[in-house]
Amino acid sequence: MPVRAIRGAITVNENNAEQILDATKTLLSEIVERNGLDSEDVISVIFSVTKDLDAVYPAVAARQMGWTDTPLFCLNEMNVPGSLPRCIRVLMHVDTEKSKKEIVHVYLGGASVLRPDLAERKITIAIDGPAGSGKSTVAKIISKKLGIIYLDTGAMYRTVALKAIREGIDTTDAGKLAELVSNIDIKIRYENQKQLIFLDGEEISSLIRTPEVSIGASNVAVVPEVRLKMVELQREIARDNSVVMDGRDIGTYVLPDATVKIYLSASVEERALRRYREQCASGVSGITLEQVKRDIEYRDKNDSGRAFAPLAKAEDAVEIDTTGLTIDEVVNRVLEIVKEKTEDD
Ligand code: DC
Repeated sequence: MPVRAIRGAITVNENNAEQILDATKTLLSEIVERNGLDSEDVISVIFSVTKDLDAVYPAVAARQMGWTDTPLFCLNEMNVPGSLPRCIRVLMHVDTEKSKKEIVHVYLGGASVLRPDLAERKITIAIDGPAGSGKSTVAKIISKKLGIIYLDTGAMYRTVALKAIREGIDTTDAGKLAELVSNIDIKIRYENQKQLIFLDGEEISSLIRTPEVSIGASNVAVVPEVRLKMVELQREIARDNSVVMDGRDIGTYVLPDATVKIYLSASVEERALRRYREQCASGVSGITLEQVKRDIEYRDKNDSGRAFAPLAKAEDAVEIDTTGLTIDEVVNRVLEIVKEKTEDD
């Protein structure tokens, strides 16, 4: 009988042995069943896991299923920026009469994106809106519910601002900023469903949330060279992955062909209050609601008024005014829109 190779992938919610073993057993059983195989037809299995999974070798699951004579091999994957978190992948070699075309590759959990009929299909969700409109809160929940990556693009501009501030560069000095981004090293990694951002190798995810960096980010984002560099990185992540990305220009410029485009808005008073509460809760001291409101107004003007890829609602985006809505209400509305859009296709 010819030897065929079958691919499969599944995600888990946590790096825990029970979840990894259960998910691996489900994946192996589904591959065998969907391809009309017996366990004796399996010649060998190569497992790989993303770096965020190390509680147990998934190969243990195959032994527990009684695949005692099958050679198994387990590998740790490289860190690919923006890749699907907590993912177990397999490459199974089998003895079968089936042709290559008849082989069914199996993608489950987060790896199957939305629904089984959308398996292997990529989905990109663009969420744009001004500061405090709820983009990141909503995008994070959506990413968990759909099992896809969340990319916070604002964090990238914040990182550029942090570097400028550290080097004593004025965040409005376009010439110096263009030079600064020509050799900046920004990396994104995901750990326990959280996006971590690294500047020149240092993890700076929480250092970029100060009011000073917020204003600096809005300033550096005006500079075309800065934007081009950040957009290159953003598109690279969206090219290979299903992703929900939030920012100012995602639907209009970064991902003009996004599957779903959402524009979140809210009154400036409510946005200021949300940011103020957020900053107080995260321990930023010495701020007043008035100051936060002024900062937001400054950023609104700066972000919408710049010449290159300003904050704007894409023509084909659905606008949701989140003033007075709960997070759950906004999330549910976004999920409805995602469903409508993906069912249309
Ligand atoms: O979303 P945020 O508050 O973290 O963004 C910080 C600043 O970065 C924002 O004021 C404007 C800029 N930005 C941008 O110009 N384009 C994006 N896609 C994301 C953020």
